[in-house]
Amino acid sequence: MKYKTMTAVIATLALSAPMLSAGGADDDTLIINGDLEITTKTAAPDHLENLDEIVSGWHFRADETQALEMDDFDNPGMIFVDQAIDTWNAPEGSEGKSCADCHGDPEEMAGVRPVYPKWNEEAGEVRTLQMQYNDCRVNRMGAEPWKYDSKPAVYMDALMSSVSRGMPVDVAIDGPAAETWEQGKEMYYTRYGLLELSCANCHEQNYGNYIRADHLSQGQINGFPTYRLNSASLVGSHDRFRGCIRDTRAETFAADSPEFVALELYVASRGNGLGVEGPAVRN
Ligand code: HEC
Ligand code: HEC
Repeated sequence: MKYKTMTAVIATLALSAPMLSAGGADDDTLIINGDLEITTKTAAPDHLENLDEIVSGWHFRADETQALEMDDFDNPGMIFVDQAIDTWNAPEGSEGKSCADCHGDPEEMAGVRPVYPKWNEEAGEVRTLQMQYNDCRVNRMGAEPWKYDSKPAVYMDALMSSVSRGMPVDVAIDGPAAETWEQGKEMYYTRYGLLELSCANCHEQNYGNYIRADHLSQGQINGFPTYRLNSASLVGSHDRFRGCIRDTRAETFAADSPEFVALELYVASRGNGLGVEGPAVRN
């Protein structure tokens, strides 16, 4: 975004600042393939002080974009789910094993996506799904790790999401995960960049408003990874975080950085209760 344009954007945001209603979210219902209803609006989890209702980004998109997500034949993200199934079944690495050899059908992983990022006791850290794939690849398959948010990793995220579609996001924020969650929360409310804008300035205080031609959502990640029509590619959440931070003209963090793992946990927890939608379709 050009600096001048963004200055105008801030002026607009400032003018419309005390706008806390569920403005702009439409009343449509997301039903995939005619039979799978997704929870796209629900009561905010208790830890959220400033919102009563949480709403999926799907409600802020145009009807044509929404429709693409309602049928797997129209959803361009599903092509990558198919590619990930091939990867799932393909032996790789020095042990000659595939994901399927140990985990069975991808459907066996239903329920995994909704609880990630998750504390891993042995490693003593909060892990995203992609960190977990690499643990399996390196330590159980003798294969190379996937680069964070690279195609095979994001496609695998799409597969893991697709088998959990409709299940409510339910990440744990207490116990050993609490410290990481606090770090993510602090980031969410930190003003970044020349524009001094926090995630909350846009996605908590101004969702429902327009920023240039873009209809601001709550910035939820229940739909990730998302197929973006603008880039015609499947995008992981860290990629999206980077784009948003870059738009504030700030230095951004690396995908895979401890900061983004913490931010992912926190942002995921803001969507506790929304249905897993991935791969969702957005513009
Ligand atoms: C040799 C067996 C083996 C192979 C091959 C393997 N995994 Fe795993 N995987 C495991 C075991 C065992 C665990 C549980 C480890 C733990 O919880 O710390 C696990 C855990 C996971 C989890 C987390 C599940 C949860 O409930 O938290 C994911 C996701 C995962 N694997 C994905 C993959 C993917 C993707 C591949 C292929 C690229 C793969 N695994 C290959 C054995 C394997
Ligand atoms: C200058 C305003 C602005 C700021 C600041 C901002 N974003 Fe965004 N963000 C947007 C816009 C515009 C979009 C695209 C429309 C939408 O979904 O809201 C977007 C989209 C997103 C999405 C995709 C939502 C979906 O359903 O696909 C996520 C996730 C997100 N932002 C997270 C963040 C996080 C986390 C931060 C803080 C690090 C942040 N954003 C900061 C403007 C902003």
